[in-house]
Amino acid sequence: MTDIATRLDPHAARLKATSLRALFADDPDRFGTFSVRMDDLLIDYSKEKIDAEALGALFGLARDAGVEAGREAMVSGAHWNLTEDRAVLHMALRGGADAPDGDDVSGTLDRFLAFAEDVRSGRYAAAEGPFTDIINIGIGGSDLGPVMVARALEPDRDGPRLHFVSNVDSAHLTDTVNALDPARTLVIVASKTFTTQETMMNARSAREWLRGAVGEEAGRHMAAVSTNIAGAAEFGIDASRVFGFWDWVGGRYSIWSAIGLPVAIGIGTTNFRAFLDGAAAMDRHFRETPLEQNLPVLLALIGIWRRNAMGWPTVALIPYDQRLERFPAYVQQLDMESNGKRTARGGSPVDALTAPIIWGEPGTNAQHSFFQLLHQGTDVVPVDFIAAATSRDGASDHHTALLANCFAQGQALAFGRTEDEARAQMAGADASEIDRLASHRMFPGDRPSTTIMHRRLDPFALGRLIALYEHKVFVQGVIWDIDSFDQWGVELGKVLAGDLLPVLNGEAGPDLDSSTAGLISTLKEFSA
Ligand code: F6P
Repeated sequence: MTDIATRLDPHAARLKATSLRALFADDPDRFGTFSVRMDDLLIDYSKEKIDAEALGALFGLARDAGVEAGREAMVSGAHWNLTEDRAVLHMALRGGADAPDGDDVSGTLDRFLAFAEDVRSGRYAAAEGPFTDIINIGIGGSDLGPVMVARALEPDRDGPRLHFVSNVDSAHLTDTVNALDPARTLVIVASKTFTTQETMMNARSAREWLRGAVGEEAGRHMAAVSTNIAGAAEFGIDASRVFGFWDWVGGRYSIWSAIGLPVAIGIGTTNFRAFLDGAAAMDRHFRETPLEQNLPVLLALIGIWRRNAMGWPTVALIPYDQRLERFPAYVQQLDMESNGKRTARGGSPVDALTAPIIWGEPGTNAQHSFFQLLHQGTDVVPVDFIAAATSRDGASDHHTALLANCFAQGQALAFGRTEDEARAQMAGADASEIDRLASHRMFPGDRPSTTIMHRRLDPFALGRLIALYEHKVFVQGVIWDIDSFDQWGVELGKVLAGDLLPVLNGEAGPDLDSSTAGLISTLKEFSA
C-alpha cells in the first residue's frame, strides 16, 4: 500500500495556505488547465483546491497503487472480490469485458429483452389484456438502479407504467397497489440471492394481492430476476419468466443485467441497448485512456484529494436535473457500500480515511434547504454538480434558469463574498445597519466543487454517467487497498433482526441489553 499521507500532505499544506480566488487570479485559464472531456461529457474541476503539482502527486499515487494493473486484473476475470472469492465482471454485461466461459451473457440479454418486448406489445398479456403496470419488488441494488434509471429516462418510456416497492414497511406495497388494477399488473421479483427478507415478504404479499383478484391466474402475473434460479422456482415462478445473472455481478453493479428488466419493459430494446452502449463507451475510455486524461481516474483522484489531503468527510451530489433525483441515493449505495470499509485487502486496518458520506438532492430545490450550510456553515462540503446542456422537454426559459443557478452556486461556493463586498452591497443603508449585518452577509468562499456536464440526459449518456461513477469507485478502492465488492457491514443487522423477530412476536429470545429490552417492552405497551 502506498503511503497516501506522505505523498499528499506537503501539497495539502501549500494549498490550504491559498484560496480559490488566488488560484484563479494566478491562472486566468484555470478552466483550460483543469477540465477534461470525453466527447460530449465534460468534467470541470477547476474549482477544486488543487494545482498541477498536487495533481502530479495524485497521478503518481494512482500509478504506484497499481490502478492500471488492478483494472486489467478485474477485466480479465481475476477474483478481484477477494473476500467472496469472485470475479468482478459487470463490464461484461455491456460488452466492456469478456464473461467467463459458459456464461451466456448475450443469450440472456436477448431473452429478457424479448420478454420485455412481448410485455410491451401485449404478446405476453394478462387475461384481461396487455399489462398496463409493472411493479418491481427488490431492495438495494435490485431496486436503486432500476428506480433511478426509470425515473431518469421517463421521457423514453412508451411501455407500461413502472412502480417500485422496496421497503418491508407495508406502507410501501399498500400505497403502491392501492392505485393499481391487479388484473393488469405484472410483478417482477428482483433479488440476486432470492433470500432477502424484505423482498421475499413483499413478494409473498404481492402474490396474495394478485391471487385475491385473479386467483389461479396470479402465476401469469409474476416474473423473477435472480442468480438463484432454484429459489425462484421454489417460490413458484414459471421458469419461462425467470431471468438469471451471475455471481460475478455485484448487486449494486447489476442494473446492466436482467435486473434492468423493468426498465427494458418501459423504454424498449433500442433504448436499453443504447444505455448499455453508453456504459461500454465509458469502459473503453477507462481501459484505453492514459491516467491523466481518464475521466473516472480523475474523478477518483479528486475524491482522494478531498478526503485524504483536505480531510473533508462528506460530499454533496447535486444533480441540476429533476429526473436524476434518485441519482444521489444510487451513488450512495454504489460508493458507500463499496468503499465504506476499514479493513485492507490483506486483513489489516486501512491506513487512510476511506469513502466519504455521500448525500444530496436535486438543484434548485437543494438551494432552498441545505445550501445555507454549504455556503456559511462551519464544515466544508465539496459538491459534485451534474447538469445537461439541453432539456428533454425542448428549449425553454426553465432550463436556462436551471443552469444559471447551477453555475452560480459553483461561483458562490468558490469565490464567496468578502466583508468589504458585503458592505459595498449595502451601500446607502444606515452605517450602523451595515456594521450590524456585514459579517452575516459575507461568504467565506474557497469551497470546492466539480461540475459534470453532458449534452442531454438520454439512455446513452445515462449509461456513460453511471459507468463513470462505477469506475471512480473502483479506482479509489485500489488506492485505499480495500475490497470494493463485498459488503460484510450489512450482515450483523440482518442477523440481529432475525434474532429479534421471535421476541417481538412474544417468543423467547436471547438476553437483551437494557435499551433493546426497554424498547421492546415500550413497543408492547404502545401497541396493546
Ligand atoms: O443488504 C445489502 C445487499 O446485500 C445489497 O448489496 C444488495 O444490493 C441488496 O442487499 C439486495 O440483495 P438481493 O438482490 O440479493 O435481494
